[in-house]
Amino acid sequence: MREFQGRTAVVTGAASGIGLALCRRFAAAGMRLVMADIEKPALQEAAEALRGGGTEVLDMVTDVSNPAQVDELARAATDAFGPVNVLCNNAGVASGGLVSELSIEDWRWVLGVNLFGVVHGLHSFLPGMLAHGQEAHVVNTASLAGLVSPPLMSPYSASKFAVVAISESLYHELNMTGAKVKVSVLCPGWVNTRIHEASRNRPAGLGGDQAREVDESRMQLMAQVISSGLPPEQVAEKVFEAINEERLYVITHPDMLAGVEARMRSILDQTNPVLTGFFA
Ligand SMILES: NC(=O)c1ccc[n+]([C@@H]2O[C@H](COP(=O)([O-])OP(=O)(O)OC[C@H]3O[C@@H](n4cnc5c(N)ncnc54)[C@H](O)[C@@H]3O)[C@@H](O)[C@H]2O)c1
Repeated sequence: MREFQGRTAVVTGAASGIGLALCRRFAAAGMRLVMADIEKPALQEAAEALRGGGTEVLDMVTDVSNPAQVDELARAATDAFGPVNVLCNNAGVASGGLVSELSIEDWRWVLGVNLFGVVHGLHSFLPGMLAHGQEAHVVNTASLAGLVSPPLMSPYSASKFAVVAISESLYHELNMTGAKVKVSVLCPGWVNTRIHEASRNRPAGLGGDQAREVDESRMQLMAQVISSGLPPEQVAEKVFEAINEERLYVITHPDMLAGVEARMRSILDQTNPVLTGFFA
């Protein structure tokens, strides 16, 4: 995509972290914004700040794990601004632990947001983006954990592997059909956001109401690792470049690719995997 001025970007998980940085980058390029997030006060505050800078913004409280709400978001976006040019399926949550100890709610929550959030975004928006005839681009937020499988984060990693697979499959389909819509998949390592506090948005029916034993030392370690991560603005800049260059893979931490190479090598050689990067 080359033309951004006056075009429309939809971002989920827009109230914080990478999503908010994407919104700021698109606003700087003169785009109109549809900002969706489950966290109402943070969303309203973020939208207001961008409006203050002169950007046209529609903000809409949306739970991406709910297909009806994402359909409603697509309708509202088109009613407000017409064709959608950029769709960032970015909302995500993280939860972890030993596979033997995870609850079914742990799996349902993470897969519901991280995997089905992307599925719902594509289902509600992609047909319209293909039909309107303007240049358009989908960005799906996966993770480096969609390319390697670290311990203690299997629901997260499973959701992100699925997002990489969907994006690769979509890439081929868009090429096969000569579509004007392109796709990127964002695979960052650690980024300095609030992802380690994701349980702030966990619904009651999916374990958000259950008292959990918090492993303080693990939480502290996560907070430390996350806060030493890349600033989200640098990630947003890389995404913007990839949209311009119509590039599928957005790799923000090339130093962490050794882990991907090691995984691929184990598969090709049929040897057992060795832990590198992440928790090694
Ligand atoms: N921070 C990292 O180190 C990192 C690394 C790789 C990938 N990611 C991915 O980046 C994306 C953005 O996360 P972040 O790091 O900016 O975290 P963040 O917590 O700062 O932002 C995530 C946003 O998603 C929103 N959200 C959560 N559940 C939602 C739902 N059901 N519907 C709509 N919105 C919802 C939250 O309210 C929040 O505003 C996620 O997909 C995450 O998995 C993050």
